Amino acid sequence: MMNLFQFWRKKGKSPQTTELSTDNIPKHVAIIMDGNGRWARRLGLPRIVGHRNGMKAVKRATIAADEFGIKVLTLYAFSTENWKRPKDEVEFLMSLPQEFLALELEELIQKNVQVRMMGHTEDLPQHTIKAMEEAISRTKDNTGLILNFALNYGSRREITECLRDITRKVAAGEISPEDITEDMVQSGLLTAGLSDPDLLIRTGGELRLSNFMLWQTAYSEFWFTELYWPEFGREHLREALIEYQRRTRRYGGLS
Ligand code: FPP
Repeated sequence: MMNLFQFWRKKGKSPQTTELSTDNIPKHVAIIMDGNGRWARRLGLPRIVGHRNGMKAVKRATIAADEFGIKVLTLYAFSTENWKRPKDEVEFLMSLPQEFLALELEELIQKNVQVRMMGHTEDLPQHTIKAMEEAISRTKDNTGLILNFALNYGSRREITECLRDITRKVAAGEISPEDITEDMVQSGLLTAGLSDPDLLIRTGGELRLSNFMLWQTAYSEFWFTELYWPEFGREHLREALIEYQRRTRRYGGLS
């Protein structure tokens, strides 16, 4: 029997059960963009075609996030584990930020979007870093949507490096172990200065975090969809926001 997701996919559109309120828009939305490869395979196409269409979905999600009034959109574009993929695929993924920015940077500037990057960027190829740095520098004074690309990002490595920095300070006698606070850890992470994601979206049907923002998602609301990332668009983001607005966030307290 066809499940609801398969029904929506077949219909080619999502249900619109309620209206989106402008009052309770999540400030920070983070997305695990999964399913590019399966999308391509379903159409009998090479995986890289899936990634290129994933790039188009990045554009749609960015424009929609901006229109909905989201302040920060963090996109998991490449994980510290993705190096295990075939060399050709890794090279293609590393060329996508450049391709995306060549196509879209002017419009992002026009829309007052501020581009950022978080991850262990020292391992990235020079051409990827150069394209990202140019976009970061050209948009640094923009005050609209923060478009934060997680590139070569891994939460365990992020936390480990943060621990290393804090322990160095302890070893140097600058602080004592009792001085270590949650705020100190928070500000030692790659997301320093950004609020935690209010809403985490994962496409592609898998129900896991895959080493993404393990600390920061402690109280995020999760929204999973079986849609493949290249299929994701404005209406799906809207659907996720409507579902977010139905949730009661208690942060461990009582409502
Ligand atoms: C996971 O899907 C997706 C990735 C590892 C890459 C995500 C990258 C993009 C969506 C494009 C990024 C664009 C820019 C501008 C940086 P998968 O390939 O693992 O899918 P599968 O599970 O179906 O194989």
